[in-house]
Amino acid sequence: MVSIGGSILIPDNDDSVYIKRLADVLNDVSASVEIVIVCGGGRIARYYTGTGRALGGNTDELDMMGIGATRLNAELLRIALGTEAFDKIPLTVDEAVDAIPNRKIVIMGGTEPGHTTDAVAAMVAGRIGCRRIVNATSVDAVYSDDPKKVPNAKRFTKLTIKELRNIVYAEHDAGRSSVFDPLGVKLAMRDRIDIMIVDGRDLDEMRNAILGKKIKGTYVNSQ
Ligand code: UTP
Repeated sequence: MVSIGGSILIPDNDDSVYIKRLADVLNDVSASVEIVIVCGGGRIARYYTGTGRALGGNTDELDMMGIGATRLNAELLRIALGTEAFDKIPLTVDEAVDAIPNRKIVIMGGTEPGHTTDAVAAMVAGRIGCRRIVNATSVDAVYSDDPKKVPNAKRFTKLTIKELRNIVYAEHDAGRSSVFDPLGVKLAMRDRIDIMIVDGRDLDEMRNAILGKKIKGTYVNSQ
């Protein structure tokens, strides 16, 4: 199970080049593992939710636009993967579960209002009995503070899921965007799913994480 942030897929920095290289890695590793990828919305989601909010949109309406953006990003990765990927973007967890036997790779975005794509990854992982979520983000690990703002923030290579829970709830309370959706952490804790937090633009790291090999980022143990 892979949750990939929109900030990784579409930062407006040679996005098609990166998405093609990512697709090549996914195609390659799919020979050994089945992969489900949930794509985030990134700046496209933020544009629509921000503009919709300024126009008085309610939370559900804004979430639906965010979901639309995640599905657009999923479509880009699906196109790059070609016939190796399931040819439709599942709209629900049930549709994703049904699609998995058909192809080695299934790509999707969000499902319904009220959470983010990290939580979708945890929901699908729980349903299919997947033991590991790779969270591809724009930071290379979990830190005690935002490393862009606090230069001596502590970098973690290993955490227990309870420690991650405390970090994401503290971030959430401070109004910061969490390294992993708090609901996703709760679900991963319940279903004993490990989470690997890695730099999504480092494709060697992505390959190692998906194959369950040693990573440079943070390994969150759920046991
Ligand atoms: P993301 O998963 O990209 O949210 O979905 P995010 O984590 O806030 O974004 P990044 O990773 O920091 O860039 C974008 C938005 O789409 C809606 C939410 O509003 C979310 O913030 N969404 C997404 C849902 O309502 N349901 C979903 O299943 C997925």
